[in-house]
Amino acid sequence: MNDVETLKSKWLGAVRAAGDLAALENLRVEALGKKGEVSGLMKTLGSAPAEERKALGAAFNALKDEVAAAIEARKADLGDAALDQKLAAERLDVTLPARPEPEGRLHPISQTIDEVVAIFGAMGFKVAEGPDIEDDFYNFTALNIPPEHPARQMMDTFYLPERQDGSRLVLRTHTSPVQIRTMLSQKPPIRIIVPGRTYRSDHDMTHTPMFHQVEGLVIDKTTHMGHLKGCLADFCRAYFELPDVPVRFRPSFFPFVEPGAEMDIGCSRKGGELKIGAGDDWLEILGCGMVHPKVLRHCNLDPAEYQGFAFGMGIERVAMLKYGIPDLRTFYEADLRWLRHYGFLPLEAPSLVRGLSPS
Ligand code: PHE
Repeated sequence: MNDVETLKSKWLGAVRAAGDLAALENLRVEALGKKGEVSGLMKTLGSAPAEERKALGAAFNALKDEVAAAIEARKADLGDAALDQKLAAERLDVTLPARPEPEGRLHPISQTIDEVVAIFGAMGFKVAEGPDIEDDFYNFTALNIPPEHPARQMMDTFYLPERQDGSRLVLRTHTSPVQIRTMLSQKPPIRIIVPGRTYRSDHDMTHTPMFHQVEGLVIDKTTHMGHLKGCLADFCRAYFELPDVPVRFRPSFFPFVEPGAEMDIGCSRKGGELKIGAGDDWLEILGCGMVHPKVLRHCNLDPAEYQGFAFGMGIERVAMLKYGIPDLRTFYEADLRWLRHYGFLPLEAPSLVRGLSPS
């Protein structure tokens, strides 16, 4: 019985002195584990006199329970202390904003391209791209603009220096060469849009030597002018986020389409303020038409079998209209204040379901 008392004061003292949860766990193993000292007492029962065994067994069990209970109690205390310490160390400043706003802004050009791609993407168009530096064939000849054609002057082309064979590469004057590249490399049905940079030697309030276009091309066996009109009218409603945008198609000339047209959207200019969608005025926003049979032939497509439409739109122009940006040249001045004002939050990707442009 003396053993029991000695062990009791030894282990209860040790438990009280344990400084942390790890030390306490070590104590538990040393006292109550399979080879622990308190557990070891049970094994001595066999050698004890028979008449004492019952009382001894009860005393050993009581000791075991008491040490176990002390360990549990100490464990709870130490756990609370550890939590208190953690809480004291980790202070939360509830006055901080939830998440700092990202500093950077998307340029309105990028935003507008994303919006246009989202709209046509939902109609089943795929994005295609081509090089900024083009071969004369893709930029002109294949588009039914032969050498000496006046349209070449119209476009104020930037030419690269002559090559050995006398030919000259050009900075593409429109995104239309990607029509040719796509028809030459892909079988119809074709449904693509082509956002990209274009270049013309021109610089004033409404022209910059580099600007952006989005080209559209649809080729299959039955596509007609009605599809062209419906597709572009739908685009305008989606892009300007208005339930109705009046559109009209005026006959116009582009060598690579027949018939060719320019599309205008309804607007009002009352009081000097431009408003899209309502009113009795019109504003030109893009060129379009049915792909010319000669263009199809240049791409090895038989015009008796295939037909389709194409359109080309200025990105800066539609960005200015939608976001009320008055001067084209400011797009390329890299002025941070301008970008903070007209730019967009980079994480708000435009989509038709979540909304095209953040308010
Ligand atoms: N490429 C023409 C331009 O730059 C636009 C256009 C594209 C017109 C496709 C008709 C069809 O002005």
